[in-house]
Amino acid sequence: MTLPEGTPETNGAVSAPDEVVWEPMVREGSSLSPTFDDLTRQRTKEIIARYPQSRSALLPLLHLVQSVEGHVSQDGIRYCAEALELTTAEVSAVATFYTMYKRTPCGEHLVSVCTNTLCAALGGDDIYARLQAKLGTDGRPLGHEETSGEPGTPGSITLEHAECLAACDLAPVIQVNYEYFDNQTVESAEELVDALQRGEKPHPTRGAALTDFKTAELELAGIFPDLDRSVEGPSVSVQTLRGAQLAMDNGWVAPPMPDEPPALPDLPEKK
Ligand code: FES
Repeated sequence: MTLPEGTPETNGAVSAPDEVVWEPMVREGSSLSPTFDDLTRQRTKEIIARYPQSRSALLPLLHLVQSVEGHVSQDGIRYCAEALELTTAEVSAVATFYTMYKRTPCGEHLVSVCTNTLCAALGGDDIYARLQAKLGTDGRPLGHEETSGEPGTPGSITLEHAECLAACDLAPVIQVNYEYFDNQTVESAEELVDALQRGEKPHPTRGAALTDFKTAELELAGIFPDLDRSVEGPSVSVQTLRGAQLAMDNGWVAPPMPDEPPALPDLPEKK
């Protein structure tokens, strides 16, 4: 693969250089994913340049592929392999290991319902079941990572159940394109999905304004066309900071670190 020369991307407009050599991976008559264009190639180069070893760029590169395709297709696997001089088997092994890489096309929005223990006990299971029924068709509930509507079109929604989303103090939680909607109920979750289907973008409980799945994937790749928008909004909650606030109010502090680290306990004898 020939990648364009360039410096790491700024937040301004990016223009593709003249000397890009591009052999389209989508062959005539094939139904493979859309071609990765010059801008994507430029971004690929910029991402790779951030790492001492090019293979370390695989995770962000897979997110970049998802920002173009809405999932990681076989064509996307080949694209990453070629750019990083890996085998397609190596790229596939990574893409199929992490749940954030989707192997089928996603909707405009990805709705993740936490059904891990605490959220489940506080209503996450009920929320997921209600959304499955609501987004399903002909009495069949929508399955995990299935999409309601034509993937990629406005109002289309991919639903998934997720493991702990690291917001247990605000359970039950839902993420839309990885932005948090805290303290949900079955009713509020239904309203949220209704709004997304109408083309609205309700503001998350905390964090930046909602965009769409592909834009979120671009940001996960480390590319921020609109950095101010991407970081606006509070990222913490009162609940999360309550312990720290209580300690501050009462003057509680952690004991100082010892000058010497404490001795490690003896290892048990091998049997
Ligand atoms: S169990 Fe749902 S956020 Fe931790």
